[in-house]
Amino acid sequence: MTAIDRLFPRPAEDLGDDELLESLAVPPGPWLRVNFVSSVDGAATSDGLSGGLSGDADKRVFELLRRLSDVVLVGAGTVRAEGYGPMRVSEESAAWRVERGRPAHPVFAIVSGALDLDARSPIFTEAPVRPIVVTTERSTADQRARFEPVADVVVAGAQTVDVGAMLAAIAERGLDQVLNEGGPSLFGALVAADRVDELCLTVSPVLVAGDAGRIARGTLGGGRDLTLAHVLHSQGTLLLRYLRAR
Ligand SMILES: NC(=O)c1ccc[n+]([C@@H]2O[C@H](COP(=O)([O-])OP(=O)(O)OC[C@H]3O[C@@H](n4cnc5c(N)ncnc54)[C@H](OP(=O)(O)O)[C@@H]3O)[C@@H](O)[C@H]2O)c1
Repeated sequence: MTAIDRLFPRPAEDLGDDELLESLAVPPGPWLRVNFVSSVDGAATSDGLSGGLSGDADKRVFELLRRLSDVVLVGAGTVRAEGYGPMRVSEESAAWRVERGRPAHPVFAIVSGALDLDARSPIFTEAPVRPIVVTTERSTADQRARFEPVADVVVAGAQTVDVGAMLAAIAERGLDQVLNEGGPSLFGALVAADRVDELCLTVSPVLVAGDAGRIARGTLGGGRDLTLAHVLHSQGTLLLRYLRAR
């Protein structure tokens, strides 16, 4: 397994999964964590995908973040671009969760204002847990009816998803720990609504240049201050954890 060291706080070498999980623990109650990977020059993609930026350390933490979450929230653009399948954690993560009285797999929640998804996709037909589809009034009743046999359909907002209504619908289902895996449009909406509690950002030791986008899009009235919670390191990759300064 790829060694991951902690540089800040309390430097320590070769952290085990238990230590990493402890470092990533969140307070009880609703919590929105976002996880992204970026190049050193701020690109969110390489050749149109995030995979080219990710390495072993990022993949290890990516899986541990899923292990800790009740629901994994992803924008439809990312689902389409990255070819997401059903939301399943590794066998080890599933066993860890079951031992703690939690469902083996987190819920998959997909945000699509236009409901531009295929209800016959394995995302839905092979889902270990019934997914949630969050859409807007832009989707038609017919489109929504196609998803009802395979997912909980939440209509939140008219043209764009109302983040507060979406998070309330998730919380109503008893799902506290929300992990957003992107993409940049959805992250921008979450930041604009000031609902992001935490950002886990992997900085990969590579320069991409070109015209790749950043990890967040959209407009924001003023910045959002963050505080640094930890810095992990593995073979030139930095794994940063920031919390919203309240
Ligand atoms: N570096 C990383 O860690 C990382 C992580 C994730 C994604 N990415 C990359 O990001 C790119 C995709 O970017 P993206 O901005 O298109 O991703 P995205 O945010 O996942 O998807 C945008 C789409 O999601 C839906 N959506 C998101 N926010 C919405 C809102 N507030 N209201 C209504 N609908 C909303 C819409 O779907 P409909 O069009 O269906 O209405 C929208 O077109 C891909 O190249 C992917 O590889 C990188």
